[in-house]
Amino acid sequence: MSDKEFWEDFYSNKKGTLTPSPFAEYVLKEHQLKGSLIELGCGNGRDSIYFIKNELEVFGTDQCETTIGRLSDLNLQGGKFEVKDFTDLGALGKFDNIYSRFTLHSVSEKQASQTLVWAFDSLTTGGKLCIEVRSIHDELYGEGEEVERDAFVTDHYRRFVRIEELTKELETLGFNIEYSEESKGFAIYKDEDPAVIRIVATKS
Ligand SMILES: C[S@@+](CC[C@H](N)C(=O)[O-])C[C@H]1O[C@@H](n2cnc3c(N)ncnc32)[C@H](O)[C@@H]1O
Repeated sequence: MSDKEFWEDFYSNKKGTLTPSPFAEYVLKEHQLKGSLIELGCGNGRDSIYFIKNELEVFGTDQCETTIGRLSDLNLQGGKFEVKDFTDLGALGKFDNIYSRFTLHSVSEKQASQTLVWAFDSLTTGGKLCIEVRSIHDELYGEGEEVERDAFVTDHYRRFVRIEELTKELETLGFNIEYSEESKGFAIYKDEDPAVIRIVATKS
């Protein structure tokens, strides 16, 4: 089963919680997100819907037709949803915010790098890139077949991220790191409490 099929299957079988993630609440309140926002890999739309309710103009994207179809059918004012591969977005205009939660570890190092270059080019001056991603200190690290450095396949692909490498890559691209932290307690889900990295980087 390909990764895309895994996520199609995942979302067609369960709709998942629509409660916003703690990361969405954190960045909205503590980093004062305003204006337009594109979400890379919006899943069931829980965070995109939260940003719409908080008056951002949201473009939610995901590779899954199932979930994007459901979200489009809601006809939410202030939001639009399209099926897209976030590693190959092309020119879509400029955004005030780019939001990626639990998605950068779904793609290879090369694809993640392409996405970060795209993000820098696609942000307005002063715009913010918000990332929450699994770290190499996650207890799931090493489970499954290793297919690339720090990347393993169980029933789907996960590439665990090194905070110092990600912040350095962002700085090299020209981002200013407004906030970066790695911790447990950020993304508790059922009995899982993974070590995750949070970064808010601005384009100055
Ligand atoms: C763990 S879920 C996270 C969903 C959502 N961001 C959240 O926090 O609830 C990962 C999502 O990323 C999407 N995804 C993974 N790789 C993608 C790609 N290359 N392009 C678009 N979406 C992708 C999957 O389809 C899935 O919906």
